[in-house]
Order: sequence, then C-alpha cells, then structure tokens
Amino acid sequence: MFDCHCHILPGIDDGSKNVEMSLAMLDREVRQGVEGVIFTPHFYADMNSPSTFLRRRERALQELEANLSRLPQVPRYVAGSEVHYFRGMSRADGIESLCIGNSDYILIEMPFRDWQPQFIDEVEELSVVLGLRVIIAHIERYFDQDKKIVKRLLDNPNFLIQCNAEYFIERTRNALSFMKTGRIDLLGSDSHNLDSRRPNLADAVQIMQKKDKKGALDHIVRVSRQIFEAAT
Ligand SMILES: [Fe+2]
Repeated sequence: MFDCHCHILPGIDDGSKNVEMSLAMLDREVRQGVEGVIFTPHFYADMNSPSTFLRRRERALQELEANLSRLPQVPRYVAGSEVHYFRGMSRADGIESLCIGNSDYILIEMPFRDWQPQFIDEVEELSVVLGLRVIIAHIERYFDQDKKIVKRLLDNPNFLIQCNAEYFIERTRNALSFMKTGRIDLLGSDSHNLDSRRPNLADAVQIMQKKDKKGALDHIVRVSRQIFEAAT
C-alpha cells in the first residue's frame, strides 16, 4: 500500500516536530507494510510563496535524509505538498512547482467553509488550463457540504479522490459504502504525529479487505504506483 498524504517531514508544518518523530513515523509505515510514502506538508498561500515553501521543504527533506540510515528499512518516498485552496490559485505564480515530485499531480485541500460553485471552477481551471492532475484530499471531510457541488466534484473524471484511513476506522459503514462506488483513487494516513494522528493505513486496509469485492484496493495501488512512476 502507499501513503499518499502525510505530514512526516520534520519541522515544516503542524506535523512531525523533529527528525526523531519523523523516523519513528516512517518506521511505523514500514511495519504496516507501506511501500511508498508521499510527504505532503501544508502549503498556505497567505503564509509562504511557493519558492519559500520549497526551500523550507528541501531543508526538512535533507535533514530527514541525513538520518534515514538509522532505519532498518526505508520506504520509497517523494515530496509533494497539500495545497490549501485559495482564490486565484489556478493563476498563481509557481503553483505547478507544488506538484508531487516531477509529476503533474497536485494534492488540493478544499476549504472547510461553505462551498461555492466557484471553488470547483477554480480547481477545474487547474486541470483544464494548466493540465495539472488534481487530487482532492480527504473527500470525506466535505460530505456535509452542498450535495450538488460535491457531486460535481465527484462526477469530474479529471479529479482523483483521496480518502483518509481514519474514515474507514471511525466511520466504517459510510466509508465502505463509499468504497463500493469505486470512486476512491488514493489513501492517506494524513498522519501528523505518533499518537492522536498516527500512521494508521494498515488498520484501514484491513477493514477494506474484508468487503472489497470490486477491486477497490487494487485500483488504489495501481493509481499510487502511477503517481510514483511519474514523480520519481
Ligand atoms: Fe493533511
């Protein structure tokens, strides 16, 4: 399995506080059978420019890499970001640089305030105008938004949909019924630390495996591999 959304890079956002924590988180990923991890620190346009963010991300990555030999086993990894939605993002300088590795896949966190149709217009522009492949982060957090707008997002085949492991762990029935729609493309732990928001992919996969009649997990692994191929 692949963890396509996590905050394991040290000291860059509200995720891992230091290298020790990052190493322990990565170790847990490996022990859970995770084959590849995409590091997706938060990007907020009102706090950093893309270039400043990328410099900070590079520093965090280098610090982690300098210590990876301390782990018995290291998963495949690549750096991306979790880009919080902002108005005008499809025209923002350097937005493409926030994609995952060398790929054109970009993880987008939609707003938590009430959704407007313009929000979807804006992310559609990312794919139509810039040709980026948009991944919508933790879709389950938006299921209480305006149903029509959410449907528009789900009906757009250009968008990839990511769910968090905790959806399966905490709202198992809802998550399994959403899984049956075949609309889940990627999974993430969205892990931030070692306790309240820890790496937890294995628990979700175990829940999914019992009810996965339509090859949902195979699909997720296939899409994750494609991203790694494109990104690295
Ligand atoms: Fe996140």
